[in-house]
Amino acid sequence: MDNGYIDNILSDFNFSKIELLPILTEIQRQNKDNYISDDISDYVATKLKMPKARVDEVITFFSAINTCKKGKFVLQLCESTVCGVKKKHLMGEAIEKKLNIKLGETTSDNLFTFEHTPCFGACDIAPAMRVNGIVHGNLTVEKIIDLIDQLSGDGENNK
Ligand code: FES
Repeated sequence: MDNGYIDNILSDFNFSKIELLPILTEIQRQNKDNYISDDISDYVATKLKMPKARVDEVITFFSAINTCKKGKFVLQLCESTVCGVKKKHLMGEAIEKKLNIKLGETTSDNLFTFEHTPCFGACDIAPAMRVNGIVHGNLTVEKIIDLIDQLSGDGENNK
């Protein structure tokens, strides 16, 4: 495991335990597989001189932190009631059709993973989804297609 980028991130945050969540978020962002592995959790705990159980607790509590390999962009479509009555299923169908994958899958180029997630508090702009933690609301099929096209360009440029 190349830990150079993790060391840099820890240093940027002055090895501060109270910055654990932003540290993990940034590590995940820079990790090509877009997740925090058990080895990374162990390494961060050692470097921050804190119990690994505490690091794991944060990882499992925050759904924006991934515990297994994901695409560069994780599309998390809200599956809860308010989004459900706002035709969330049409958005899911649009994502699956556009990316040619099913729920829970990752595209073959590792750019996109499509998931469902419980309500994340954006009910006033339902239907909503998060992409790498950023909320997109008042979704329509057209908005989703545009967003995926835009992200595809960004992802290809940053490979
Ligand atoms: S029900 Fe979808 S964000 Fe709350």
